Amino acid sequence: MKAIAINGSPHMEEGNTAMILNPFLEGMKEAGCDVEVFYTMKLKIGPCNGDMSCWFKNPGICGQKDDMQMLAPKLKEADIIIWASPVYYSGVTGPLKNLMDRQLPIHVLGSIGEKKQKVVLVSTCGDWDMSMFDPLLMQMKAIYDRPDGSSSFVGALLRPMADGVKEMVKAGETGLVDGVFRAARDAGRQLAKDGIISEELLKQVSKVLMPRDAYYKAAQMMMAEMQKTAKN
Ligand SMILES: Cc1cc2nc3c(=O)[nH]c(=O)nc-3n(C[C@H](O)[C@H](O)[C@H](O)COP(=O)(O)O)c2cc1C
Repeated sequence: MKAIAINGSPHMEEGNTAMILNPFLEGMKEAGCDVEVFYTMKLKIGPCNGDMSCWFKNPGICGQKDDMQMLAPKLKEADIIIWASPVYYSGVTGPLKNLMDRQLPIHVLGSIGEKKQKVVLVSTCGDWDMSMFDPLLMQMKAIYDRPDGSSSFVGALLRPMADGVKEMVKAGETGLVDGVFRAARDAGRQLAKDGIISEELLKQVSKVLMPRDAYYKAAQMMMAEMQKTAKN
């Protein structure tokens, strides 16, 4: 089984998104899945120019020559696609959205329905509130829950208050957060083995680690500290 993961975080391996994505992918590999990861920061992929030549003039072929030529066949052939992104203004990051738009030649009229792909979202945000992920979830479902069954959105690993989680890891407070990473790994293993991710594991990834007020207070103090450090 082949999986492709695209991480849209500018922080790549060091980011909060990788903190959840990586154990998930490790779990998939442990269960025998062949996983390839790409970072939008390392790819040269321009925005779609919207000329629709990939549908009408040269069906399935994009006129732009960049890294999408290498990536498109991989996206087309994958059994599982994992989109990973921090929440940026209620959406995925700009470079990831550009890449997603450039899938149009893959989804050219008539070719839909060839393969039953499974799609997963991995996302992190700074806010405490899970509702931050609602627009991304809606977008993923709208794109990938296709009525003809050619692809299905199997679930999302969502980690709110991710900046707080990073601080907890740095401070060595692993007791609370270990369960989150373990659940991400188990979710990867389950997806590769059974083709599903249980609600229980997804809940563990998103689990409340501290009360809302306490998090916002801690976040304010952290930001004041960061401002002081940045000025010095
Ligand atoms: C430009 C920008 C926009 C952001 N917008 C949101 C937002 O709308 N809601 C939110 O909760 N966090 C927002 N954040 C915070 C990030 O989603 C959060 O820090 C995330 O975990 C960063 O992941 P990364 O380290 O993988 O890049 C934003 C951060 C940036 C830089």
